[in-house]
Amino acid sequence: MRITVIGCGYVGLVTGTCLAELGHHITCVDTNAARIEALKKSVSPIYEPGLEELLETNINAGRIHFTTNVAEAMQGASAVFLAVGTPQSEDGSANLTYLNAAAAEVARNAKGFLTIITKSTVPVGTGDALEALVARENPGVEFAVISNPEFLREGAAIQDFMQPDRVVIGLENDRARSVMTAIYAPMGDIPLLFTRRRNSELIKYAANAFLAMKVAFINEMADLCEAVNGDVAEVAQGMGLDPRIGNRFLQAGPGYGGSCFPKDTAALAASASKAGSPMQLVEATIASNEARKANVATKVAEALGGSLVGKRIAILGLAFKAGTDDMREAPALSIIPALEARGAKIAAFDPKAFEQARPLLTETEFSKDVQSALHGADAALILTEWPEFRTLGPSDFKSTMRQPLVFDFRHTFSVESFAAAGVSLYSVGRGHDEDEQERPDVLPFPSLESEVKAKLAKSKLKIHSA
Ligand code: NAD
Ligand code: UGA
Repeated sequence: MRITVIGCGYVGLVTGTCLAELGHHITCVDTNAARIEALKKSVSPIYEPGLEELLETNINAGRIHFTTNVAEAMQGASAVFLAVGTPQSEDGSANLTYLNAAAAEVARNAKGFLTIITKSTVPVGTGDALEALVARENPGVEFAVISNPEFLREGAAIQDFMQPDRVVIGLENDRARSVMTAIYAPMGDIPLLFTRRRNSELIKYAANAFLAMKVAFINEMADLCEAVNGDVAEVAQGMGLDPRIGNRFLQAGPGYGGSCFPKDTAALAASASKAGSPMQLVEATIASNEARKANVATKVAEALGGSLVGKRIAILGLAFKAGTDDMREAPALSIIPALEARGAKIAAFDPKAFEQARPLLTETEFSKDVQSALHGADAALILTEWPEFRTLGPSDFKSTMRQPLVFDFRHTFSVESFAAAGVSLYSVGRGHDEDEQERPDVLPFPSLESEVKAKLAKSKLKIHSA
């Protein structure tokens, strides 16, 4: 099938490339001319494992083309995917400016029966509005507006697209059903969920908000574990073995980030309020996540005796998660300025997000490798779970830092081996038993010590010992 994809970002590019790999003839459009020129040369504007190779294969096979011209891209196409950004507006709602502009241009170039598929994440009711917009722009044109939200994760995008848990297709009549079935047919036996368009729009936000809530929940459990000497990793394991809960998205961390959880929770909360049905759990999730990121600088300051003035702090990991160079809403973008505002000097390293991060962190020194970031540091924070950080041992910190104090927000290191080697380690969500002699250097924050002891004295929890 001939298919046009509007928007060559994470979703558009992955969608276009994967559909080409499945045998469709794809033309991708973007308003960013530099992006299109790079793509014509098989250069991906984003870091996504496996994408560039797949792109090159399909360009060479003549199955995917790139242009800035919508009319040219739509020649002979029976379906158009809209995959442009829907960023957060001032009031939290989704900004549909790009989507509406793209849809209007598609409408003006529509001929014959056209299936217009919204892959962008959009609030409930957007499909209805797009239908009206297309009819207005091109009266008399025959078309269907379909909602087909995307559930891929950055860093695992190709696999998520090619082997989806489900493909949700929201439609209001059966006219385009066969088109949608034909698009996904080469994937073989995958669950296609046909539903009403507004359900499909709601499913996308519900899924992201639920996952964000799961992360915020385990992060609050991590705080409780620190206070009562529990271990959040074991708590998550015990919870996750219940198939009704599941073990995924229960990794405590510095707070969730990325281009979607923050904006999609805000957009869901905004549209729920607008509909007169506020979602308190979603609002609490947003507040909890903001508080978590803000609290990191306080934790670090407490461990360093109260003040960060003149302290040098190494940040290992800037991207919002491993496997991507995406810096959108990365926790590092809140945490680093908060540390700097308290007088700390930051040296940061990230194996992939360096170029994206540099313009966003103008006060920050960027290091070429882990060792230069750690050099002379008073504390080191692991903010992204890059696999290469796992190969670091206590001696890497001890030999280079001014004092070996590590804040591990991603459960990268073993508490026992770091403690045994004399490196003080804060491991997120892992409390410290005062009587546990084999963990002498695991940090209880000095100023929290009496509070922790008081809570421990009252606690009936069986204290985990490693
Ligand atoms: P992105 O910002 O990476 O890419 C959007 C692209 O659209 C940009 O290259 C931009 O230049 C282009 N664009 C904007 N207006 C255009 C127009 N009128 N015509 C042609 N191109 C235009 O965005 P993204 O991360 O790919 O997200 C796109 C949508 O998919 C959003 O709604 C997002 O919520 C949703 N989504 C994203 C992910 C993800 O992992 N990033 C996953 C699922 C869903
Ligand atoms: C997320 C969803 O997982 C995708 O299904 C969805 O398609 C996408 O948003 C979207 O709509 O854009 P993504 O943003 O790529 O994908 O990243 P996730 O892997 O979901 O992680 C989001 C954030 O939560 C990251 O900051 C990550 O570090 C954090 N997280 C995730 C945790 O702290 N703990 C976990 O257990 C899982």
